[in-house]
Amino acid sequence: MISENINVILNEQINKEFYSGYLYLSMSAYLKELGLNGFATWTKIQAKEEVEHGLKIFDYLIDCNSFVTLKQIKTPEFEFNGILSIFNYIYEHEKSITNSIMEIAKKAEEECDRMTLNFIDWFIAEQVEEEETVKNIIKRLELFGEDKVALYLMDKELSERTE
Ligand code: FEO
Repeated sequence: MISENINVILNEQINKEFYSGYLYLSMSAYLKELGLNGFATWTKIQAKEEVEHGLKIFDYLIDCNSFVTLKQIKTPEFEFNGILSIFNYIYEHEKSITNSIMEIAKKAEEECDRMTLNFIDWFIAEQVEEEETVKNIIKRLELFGEDKVALYLMDKELSERTE
C-alpha cells in the first residue's frame, strides 16, 4: 500500500515528466527552425521518452491501487539562445529531475516502502544515463565551438536516434 505522502510525490513526478516532454518538444520546434534537423529529431524523441516516464509512474500508481491526480502542465519558459545554451539548460533541468527522483527514493526509504524503492531504481539508472548523454553532447559542442562542419556532422549523427 502506497502512503499518501508517496502518492503525492509520485503524482508530482508524473507532472514533471510530462512537463519535461513539453520542454523537449518546444526545443525541438526551435531547433527545426534553425535547420538543425538532427538535434530537432533527438529532442523530439526525448520528449516521447519523457511522456513514457510519466506513464510508467501512472501505471505504477494504478497497479498499486493508488490514486492518479493529473495537474496542469505549465508552459515551458525558456529563452532560446543557440544550441549550446539549449543543452546547458537541458543538463540543469535533468539534474533537477534527478534530485526529485532521489527525493522519492529518500521518502520511500523513510517509510520502508520497498515496492516504491524497487520501482524508483529504474528511474535512478535512467537519470545517470540521461545526464551522461547530455553532458557528452555539451562537451562536444564546446569543443567544436563555431565550427559549422563539425556541427553539421553532429546534427547528422543525432538524426540517427530512433528511440
Ligand atoms: Fe524523465 Fe529526462 O527524465
